[in-house]
Amino acid sequence: MGTLRFFNLQPLMETFGCRYLFETGTGMGEGVRYASFYQFDRIWSVEIHPDIAATARERFADNGRIEILHETSEQALARVLPGIDREKAVLFWLDAHFPGADFGLASYRDESDADRRLPLQRELELIAKLRRPCRDVLLIDDLRIYEEGPFGEGPMPDFAQTLPPELRNIDFVLRPPWSESHDLQRFYENTGYLVLTPRHPPPNAGAAR
Ligand SMILES: C[S@@+](CC[C@H](N)C(=O)[O-])C[C@H]1O[C@@H](n2cnc3c(N)ncnc32)[C@H](O)[C@@H]1O
Repeated sequence: MGTLRFFNLQPLMETFGCRYLFETGTGMGEGVRYASFYQFDRIWSVEIHPDIAATARERFADNGRIEILHETSEQALARVLPGIDREKAVLFWLDAHFPGADFGLASYRDESDADRRLPLQRELELIAKLRRPCRDVLLIDDLRIYEEGPFGEGPMPDFAQTLPPELRNIDFVLRPPWSESHDLQRFYENTGYLVLTPRHPPPNAGAAR
């Protein structure tokens, strides 16, 4: 499992003017906890599993900046993004996959709907559509689901690999609109990360608050 702690969020917030954090896949809430140390105006995190979502809600109930949503990542993005000010960038931490499995509450193959099991492609399509022209920053966990590479924690274990070989790629990130608007970086630490940063930061970034 990757961790948002791999990233220093302050320079990303300053360079790209990120005022909001949106996480897909809350898990135990470690990403939310880390993000809460930074001065985001709002933090949303969505979790598909009812027990995991309930525990996280309780954990962050006292923090008015944090909202834990219990639905699919697609549903949450479709509902929340249209209401977010386009002038303020969002920092996305896209980490939803295998409902319940990382915490022993399900197996990696239990979810038969591929878009709920591995929602990344649909999430990116929604973000591109609802935040157009998109000048947000996207941090994506678990690159090893999609590609081979010298990952710090090794290759994707066979028991957790549910993608057929023809879908094991990030072609959906390498083509427009992302290839036109964002630079892409790969990191091989942990289970691998993809970072998409806008080629043209918002006009007031840096001084942004
Ligand atoms: C790796 S964990 C998240 C860890 C967390 N982001 C962190 O940084 O600590 C992945 C989580 O995504 C959830 N999940 C899986 N598919 C989902 C979906 N389609 N929508 C929302 N959450 C999903 C899983 O139930 C699991 O709790």
